Amino acid sequence: MKIETYEKAYLALGGATLAAALLVLLYTSVGMDIHLPSRVAEVDPATVRTTPPFDQLGVRQTGPGKYEAVILGQVWAFLPQEIRVPVGAEVTFTATSPDVIHGFMIAGTRVNMMLIPGQISRMTYTFRRPGEYAIICHEYCGLGHQGMVGRVIVE
Ligand code: CUA
Repeated sequence: MKIETYEKAYLALGGATLAAALLVLLYTSVGMDIHLPSRVAEVDPATVRTTPPFDQLGVRQTGPGKYEAVILGQVWAFLPQEIRVPVGAEVTFTATSPDVIHGFMIAGTRVNMMLIPGQISRMTYTFRRPGEYAIICHEYCGLGHQGMVGRVIVE
C-alpha cells in the first residue's frame, strides 16, 4: 500500500474520533441536560450581608416539598453552619462568598460548586435519604480551610 493511503486512514480515524467526542458532548449537554454550575446573578460582596436574599440566611419553604437554603461561605465557616430539611425535600442552594473563593460540596450528592465573591451560585438537589450530609469547602481558602465544614440534616 502507498504511504498516502495510511495517511488518509489516520486522518479519517482522527476525524471520526473528534466527531464521536462532539456527539457525546452534545448528547450529555442537550440530551441529558448536564451542565457545569454557572453564575446565576451578581451581588456586591461589600454589601452582600444586607442584600436580599443574603440578609436572611437559612432555609425557607418555597412550595410543597420545596425549599431554598441561603448560605454564605466565608473565612472559615458556612453560615448557617447547619440546615435541616425533611426527607424528600427539593432544596435549592443559593450561596456566595463575601471574601475569598470557597468551594461548596455536599458529600454524597452531586452538589458541587464554587463560591466566588460577587457571584451568586445556585444548585438544586433532592434529598431522598435521611441522614447527615457534610458541606465541605474544597477550595483552599487560607489557614482555617480544613475546618470549614457545615452540614445538612435530612430527617
Ligand atoms: Cu473555604 Cu476552603
